[in-house]
Amino acid sequence: MSARIIDISREPDLALSEALTVLFAGQPIALPTETVYGLAADATNPAAITRIYETKGRPRFNPLICHMADLAMAERYGTFDPVSRRLAEAFWPGPLTLVVPLKRNSGIHSLATAGLDSVGIRVPRGFAGELIRRFDRPLAAPSANTSGRISPTSARHVAEDLGDRIALILDGGAAMVGVESTIVKVEDGRLRLLRPGGVAAEEIESLTGLYLERPVTAASGETSGEDGSEADIEARIEAPGMLSSHYAPKAGVRLNVENARPGEALILFGSRDVPGADKAAAVYNLSPSGDLGEAAARLFDLLHAADACGVDTIAVAPVPTEGLGEAINDRLERAGAPRP
Ligand code: TXA
Ligand code: MG
Repeated sequence: MSARIIDISREPDLALSEALTVLFAGQPIALPTETVYGLAADATNPAAITRIYETKGRPRFNPLICHMADLAMAERYGTFDPVSRRLAEAFWPGPLTLVVPLKRNSGIHSLATAGLDSVGIRVPRGFAGELIRRFDRPLAAPSANTSGRISPTSARHVAEDLGDRIALILDGGAAMVGVESTIVKVEDGRLRLLRPGGVAAEEIESLTGLYLERPVTAASGETSGEDGSEADIEARIEAPGMLSSHYAPKAGVRLNVENARPGEALILFGSRDVPGADKAAAVYNLSPSGDLGEAAARLFDLLHAADACGVDTIAVAPVPTEGLGEAINDRLERAGAPRP
């Protein structure tokens, strides 16, 4: 199979009708969201969900985010309290996933939630939201990459990785946000950050006036990636996919470098230079002006590009840790984590 690629901006009607045909047939499609490209299928159809797991090579005990058209649709499947509703109203559509109690007999298949009694819900911006409105069922969608590899931020990334395993890729250009959604679990008036992402933690805290509890990060822990053992993953059921080595390029990754070594691919941030850059195999900059939003949007594309140089090591200069820098540093640490 070689995936058909349809450009949404050129053929929006065709993109919509072909996507609906494939989805109703119980097959996954790759589609753009503002964060990263997703591998989307009918969240109510067990065969369709199974195809997502098979296509990615992803363990089935790692639950999928269910994408909705809007908050009203989301409330058919999950239970929202005043805090989760407030967050949804403020940040949807957008790069925030809320983990809330799953409604009984909601219709979402337990394969999508990996049997948990909670569900991760997100309302994406743009075409994906429109498609879900037309489909009128939630779309389960992990990132459209082989399990354990860098998330795709362009249709080309998807085609190179999964192009021979799926029927349809919708091309919506480069993803605007570029890192995955922030995942927050709302439970008993507490907020827990399961994954930093496209909405800065500070924004969530200032909106709710609540402290966003951080788990022990997987990157610093001893668990493994989407490919990890079942025991590992069950031990980390809170955010089972957020494990070290989850964003692995083929090359090794060296972080917070102050000096580049000859032959490395070098990724800079801002105007600060790194000695040894002249001996690097390739030099990139996440954001010459030091803008964290721009850096997030370019992160995975530059990791893909640096990896494609065939270097042994990708060296990355320090990136600030505030705002979107938390998600950027999180993904870089995972990219640099020891492989299972
Ligand atoms: O931006 C995104 O979130 C992208 C786009 C496609 O929407 N999706 C994405 O999906 O990053 P994925 O499967 O790569 O990551 C989903 C994460 C996993 O770490 C999973 O364990 C967690 O969400 N998750 C999903 N449902 C959960 C639940 N009920 N409780 C805890 N974690 C959950
Ligand atoms: Mg992923």
